[in-house]
Amino acid sequence: MTTRLAVLSRGPRLYSTRRLVEEARLREMDVAVINPMQFSLFVAEQDIGILHQGQKFDYDAVIPRIGHSITKHGVAVLRHLEQLDVWTANTSQGILQSRDKLHSSQILARNRIPTPRTAYVRDMKDIERAIDAVGGLPVVVKVTQGTQGQGVFLRHTLRETGNLVQGLLVTGKAVLIQEYIAESHGKDIRALVVGGKVVASMRRKARGREFRSNYHLNGTVEKVEISDEYAEVACRAARVLGLNVAGVDLLEGNDGPLVLEVNSSPGLEGIEKASGVNVAGAIIDYVISESDFNEVNVDQLLKTIPGQGVLSVHLRNHPHLIGSPISEIFKEDMPVFALSRAGDLIWNPDPDIQLRFRDSLICYGDLEQLRASIKRKNLDLPPVSNTEKDGQDSNA
Ligand SMILES: Nc1ncnc2c1ncn2[C@@H]1O[C@H](COP(=O)(O)OP(=O)(O)O)[C@@H](O)[C@H]1O
Ligand SMILES: [Mg+2]
Repeated sequence: MTTRLAVLSRGPRLYSTRRLVEEARLREMDVAVINPMQFSLFVAEQDIGILHQGQKFDYDAVIPRIGHSITKHGVAVLRHLEQLDVWTANTSQGILQSRDKLHSSQILARNRIPTPRTAYVRDMKDIERAIDAVGGLPVVVKVTQGTQGQGVFLRHTLRETGNLVQGLLVTGKAVLIQEYIAESHGKDIRALVVGGKVVASMRRKARGREFRSNYHLNGTVEKVEISDEYAEVACRAARVLGLNVAGVDLLEGNDGPLVLEVNSSPGLEGIEKASGVNVAGAIIDYVISESDFNEVNVDQLLKTIPGQGVLSVHLRNHPHLIGSPISEIFKEDMPVFALSRAGDLIWNPDPDIQLRFRDSLICYGDLEQLRASIKRKNLDLPPVSNTEKDGQDSNA
């Protein structure tokens, strides 16, 4: 069966949209461009529905190309389609969180992906401290929802920075003050990630004294081979933000790559021309190979059953369990997804693994039962000595 594909885009004539359609047709897919603004969404107690200009929406897969100005509506449409089990190249959640520069930098930092130091300021009294916290002047000032370089500024003095931030705050913008990566002035790297791999990359350069290297600000693009380190960081950034198709912007810092932002509808024109790679073809191939498998948000799924959920158990709060194998806590049924140890996640850990002070277990199932299993074990065992409590991992 051929996949019926809809490219959700308001611009059928735009380069990226045209190329996706062209590559889909070459692979004999049934493909259409559909304007995401023309959907009506229906919600009722028993079921949900969607109409496109009065017609049933009858596609198996979508590639969302949701413009910034319609993020809210586009994401609502996508959420609806996800609930109806339509496969999507990028999820509503991934698009939403990558569009907010504060939210995405929080996710990147939590996953220890290198990114410029950033402060979110709400009060003029904190401006000076924010500048210090990101490493001093000059600084980059950004609005959290900007795109194509609009809303990104370089400021050299406290007064200029203060004036700009105040002006933005007054107009209701959310403002970031960011470390200026001087060694990367006027250039950056765009890596196109599709399905966990970098398929193409380019270096973008600003013209003249401009420090923003956006293609839409008349920047120039050129082919570049990126190192494994850069490719790995780009793929991790796309993954933690929940994007399968992404344009990752990287700065070349003195200590290696820094992720600036991750775009969920990357433009294809610049990158195809600079790299000579058929990026649209790679995206369509990815859709063909993946669209038979839908991703599931497990937490969401478990919430449909009363009392079920996912728990993270920090062993430091349950010292009685340290040194025991996982199998002793949960006897026959093993509701353990993963063991978090020294910054790594071990999926489906071996039941015989002995637990350490700094470990966390990620378990799923009936929350009351999970808590009871953990507490029961606490009562079974004699207390541990203080050295074990305070010190290193017990069996490090
Ligand atoms: N912290 C920074 N240090 C140096 N250059 C930066 C920094 N932040 C942004 N730039 C430059 O400005 C451009 C636009 O910034 P970006 O955060 O990607 O915003 P937009 O979403 O508008 O593209 C980047 O491509 C880069 O060239
Ligand atoms: Mg950018």
